[in-house]
Amino acid sequence: MAEDDLLALGREAEAMIRELAEVSAEEGRLVRLYLTPEHRRAADLVGRWMAEAGLDVGEDALGTVKGRLPPEGGRRNAARRLLIGSHIDTVIDAGAYDGTLGVIAGVLAVREIVRRHGRMPFGIDVLAFGDEEGSRFPVTLLSSGAIAGRFDPAALNVESVDGIRLEDALRRYGKDPAEIGKAAYDPEEAAAYVEVHIEQGPVLEQAGEALGVVTAIAGQSRHTVTVVGEAGHAGTVPMALRHDALAAAAEITLALERLARRHVDDFMVGTVGRISVAPGASNVIPARAVFSVDLRSQTDAKRLDALASLRGEIEAIANRRGVTVRVERTHEMPATPCDPTLQAGFAAAVAGQGGEAILLSSGAGHDGQAVGALCPIAMLFVRCRQGVSHNPAEFTSIGDMGRAIAALIEFIENFDRSFLAR
Ligand code: GLV
Ligand code: MN
Ligand code: MN
Repeated sequence: MAEDDLLALGREAEAMIRELAEVSAEEGRLVRLYLTPEHRRAADLVGRWMAEAGLDVGEDALGTVKGRLPPEGGRRNAARRLLIGSHIDTVIDAGAYDGTLGVIAGVLAVREIVRRHGRMPFGIDVLAFGDEEGSRFPVTLLSSGAIAGRFDPAALNVESVDGIRLEDALRRYGKDPAEIGKAAYDPEEAAAYVEVHIEQGPVLEQAGEALGVVTAIAGQSRHTVTVVGEAGHAGTVPMALRHDALAAAAEITLALERLARRHVDDFMVGTVGRISVAPGASNVIPARAVFSVDLRSQTDAKRLDALASLRGEIEAIANRRGVTVRVERTHEMPATPCDPTLQAGFAAAVAGQGGEAILLSSGAGHDGQAVGALCPIAMLFVRCRQGVSHNPAEFTSIGDMGRAIAALIEFIENFDRSFLAR
């Protein structure tokens, strides 16, 4: 694509990203959580863009917005669909590009496909998922899991950080949980799922390349840990007689850090990102600490080993400190490989835009991991400044976004020949 056209696409993507970033629960920072009024407004905005791009817009029972381009009738692959997606929920105090770039890239690429070709020999669905981050509910990837037919009804009972059951939040959002099963695609229909996403790491910037092709997405476990100790007077209970829940939680956090550092070669990373302490007064020994544990690595066996070691350390810490600890698993996703043929399709599209496709793995989790249970998946990563993400400083240039959208258009144009005709 000519540089001017590519920059025009990038500029349009940037304007849409800015408009979506205005849709926030808070003034001055971006917070857009699953099934909130902000999610509704963002979904409506994305639905409007999909309609303007010439797509038929619908929404499933978990709030995934779907823009459909029907196939050209009577063609060999008319019963098959290419799914293109990402998410419109955010972390707390988020950057503007994580997730939203993928949805907007899908809309703009398919709009261009409609302009150039009308329809393709296969159908295309652009999907905007609502819960990739897991910032509101402890479970995550429910909406992408549902399209793969992998929704676990037990999730309806989980409680959000603001104390609302998922089932109630869905009903308030105007959804009927009994309809969730209908979100699933027929595996015969879903030919492949692809996603454009900012890299969220420094590899592309260091290589001096705008675009990269993902080989695999790291496996991930999330747990909620509850430590129960004993409240007491901060001025009178001697240190040796305390059962301080927060001190135990701190020791578990450091044990997690130590375990992850043992496997840097496997890109193992362990994070405690949220903690709440009760009763929460400066002169009361904490009686209860509830915190999240997020552990990821490229190799599932190493991650599961590290989790087993962590459980052993937790038991030892609990015994030594005279506290009780409960560990609940809230999310478990194995490492997910990307399909080699789809990777080759993206590499060819990147080369078509004059780039050299860097191959890289993803430490971040993505909707594609859940969709991987349905069909082959692939991801195109886009360079972001200094690899910064989950941070309001997140930034991707107009030129790089334009290149990504141009590569996605080329990928779609060649999808029939490079993938379906295999
Ligand atoms: C999603 O951004 C995740 O990897 O936590
Ligand atoms: Mn994301
Ligand atoms: Mn994210």
